Amino acid sequence: MSDLSSFSATVSATTRDSVLVVTIDNAPVNATSVDVRSGLEKALTHAETATDVLGVVITGAGKTFIGGADINEFGKPAMEPTLPAVIEKIENLSKPVVAALNGAALGGGLEVALACHHRIASPSAQLGLPEVKLGIVPGAGGTQRLPRLIGIAAALELVTSGRVAKADEALKLGIVDEIAKDDLVGAAVSAVQNLAGTPLRRTGALSIAPADPAEIETAAAKILAKARGQKAPAEAVRLVTTSTRPFAEGLADERATFIALRDSREAAALRHVFFAERESSKVEGLEGIEARLVSTIGICGLGLMGSGIAVAALGAGYSVIALDQTPEAAEKGRERIIGLLERNLASGRLDQASFDAQKARLSVTASDADLAPCDLVIEAVFDDLAVKADLFQRLDKVIRPNAILATNTSYLNPDEIAAATAHPERVLGLHFFSPAHVMRLLEVVRCAKTAPDVLATGLAVAKKLRKLPVVTGVTEGFIGNRIFSAYRREAEFLLEDGALPHEIDAALEDYGFPMGLFAVYDMAGLEIAWARRKRQAATRDPAARYVEIADTLCETGRLGQKAGRGWYFYPEGKRTIDPEVTAIIEAARAKKGIAPRSFSKDEIQDRMLKAMATEGEALLAEHVATRPGDIDLVMINGYGFPAHKGGPMFARD
Ligand code: 3HC
Repeated sequence: MSDLSSFSATVSATTRDSVLVVTIDNAPVNATSVDVRSGLEKALTHAETATDVLGVVITGAGKTFIGGADINEFGKPAMEPTLPAVIEKIENLSKPVVAALNGAALGGGLEVALACHHRIASPSAQLGLPEVKLGIVPGAGGTQRLPRLIGIAAALELVTSGRVAKADEALKLGIVDEIAKDDLVGAAVSAVQNLAGTPLRRTGALSIAPADPAEIETAAAKILAKARGQKAPAEAVRLVTTSTRPFAEGLADERATFIALRDSREAAALRHVFFAERESSKVEGLEGIEARLVSTIGICGLGLMGSGIAVAALGAGYSVIALDQTPEAAEKGRERIIGLLERNLASGRLDQASFDAQKARLSVTASDADLAPCDLVIEAVFDDLAVKADLFQRLDKVIRPNAILATNTSYLNPDEIAAATAHPERVLGLHFFSPAHVMRLLEVVRCAKTAPDVLATGLAVAKKLRKLPVVTGVTEGFIGNRIFSAYRREAEFLLEDGALPHEIDAALEDYGFPMGLFAVYDMAGLEIAWARRKRQAATRDPAARYVEIADTLCETGRLGQKAGRGWYFYPEGKRTIDPEVTAIIEAARAKKGIAPRSFSKDEIQDRMLKAMATEGEALLAEHVATRPGDIDLVMINGYGFPAHKGGPMFARD
């Protein structure tokens, strides 16, 4: 092996058996920033002209091959050389170029690999074109080269879902040519030696296998329906399905589409979400604080929520000791948890060995003392202060002094629950969303006395559970339900002011919510919110505007879809506008002397967004939420706010 030569600050090479082994080292994820592009270009020029170089291996330093184009460069003036230009140079080099995929090859990273003449992956490599998740399409040949390698149907699925394929799937699909179990670079060097002097397989020159038009049409229709008005998936469909046209024409169209989308509001919103997700676990005061070790989690209360949490914990590799009030209830809980695991087994999300292992890590009990080995106990019992305080007092006596207690309360004050214990510093809130084994959001509640390493442990456990943790301070409903209450309140003001439930729902669905607010209420049932309103009645500010319509609906038995009627009427299960509800709304307006007026879709959307953003501002001012991005993540991941609009705080700007 010869000495290291440097082509730029982030691209260096060694020569191994006459092969130039080029390594990209651009922490954290080897993104193709301008310095990487120019280093690669120089390395390729050197390889082309140096008579003692047989060909090139491209690989990445660390655990990533290339994580994609540098997202931080988006929105800045273009800097030469462009990624497509470098990629074209790879494909057209007269000497073989082999990609040694040592880890994630995503977006522009996979596009670099696709232009190489041969691809070898390590078993841990992950390949994908996640651009649609950023509101863009691949911009350096991905939509044109991938179908040439694996066919239109498979490429369509990968490009429009943005999902990642592991090495063995990538091999089966034909994205990579080999998997090297050990000495990846050695295998790539051998491949260059074997290819040298032979006709090179240039991906852009391959013809595309004919696809079944009906199959492609059905797949495309499904993708477009799921996109709910987002532009990138539709453009991705167009580019992949037309990839049979001349290669240069497809590339030019792809690049122009990429640039237009990259500069769009939708892409800016999704980039905001991308960075907000990475920012959210950086919490002030936790720098250098180590999380406590957690291997056994106790879960109290095995209803829907507790069972979901148990499934998430088992899936993350924790041992679970699950407690309910009686042996019968505990056994029922066990059945519910196993039932959820069986569903995962049947759907293929879980293989038999993992199912068996998870089942073996679960035990249930009705005795507090059995929770003694737990490092963390999460309660998901009835949302009542006395019930939760009593449970925590009992647990205080059986768990180790350094074990942590977490409450899953939605509306109670966790500081009051903590105050009932002898060690409030070991109490925090872990507010899961239902179903807890599916929903990604987890509000991690920092109580007044929560110790920093207890909070750090909450965040570490959340990550291991593959949740998206967002830290919130204590307030009624935390970040999500506080904003949701403001959203609901505004919708009810709109009702009184002149809009009807279906008009508000249509405006919200048009904005990108999967379902309108009133349809959601009908689906969930109106009684829980009604009970809360009754509890709050005594302390409500009599001067504040209060809309009685929902109470009237509940009093007349309109408790939602299960009751056959709520905000809508459900003949044969079909949601229908109900004149009776319209009459109740009109009577409420008349009682307050409100002269109703009509509202446009835009006006409804503006008022709803403003209400959410104003409440968000209040949460920031009260230091309940740390960053606007945290609020956006909560609303996107817990309440159906469309990610491509960036969340209420981003949308407000
Ligand atoms: N550009 C710039 N920064 C990036 C980046 C990118 N493409 N990908 C990740 N980063 C940054 C993150 O912001 C984070 O920064 P921070 O430490 O300051 O918070 C850091 O890298 C580490 O990221 P993660 O926390 O996500 O690290 P992981 O190890 O968990 O995951 C990864 C690594 C799988 C590569 C993941 O970061 C990822 O999925 N990245 C995005 C991949 C992507 O979307 N690529 C496509 C980009 S668009 C494109 O390529 C266009 C092309 O077609 C022209």
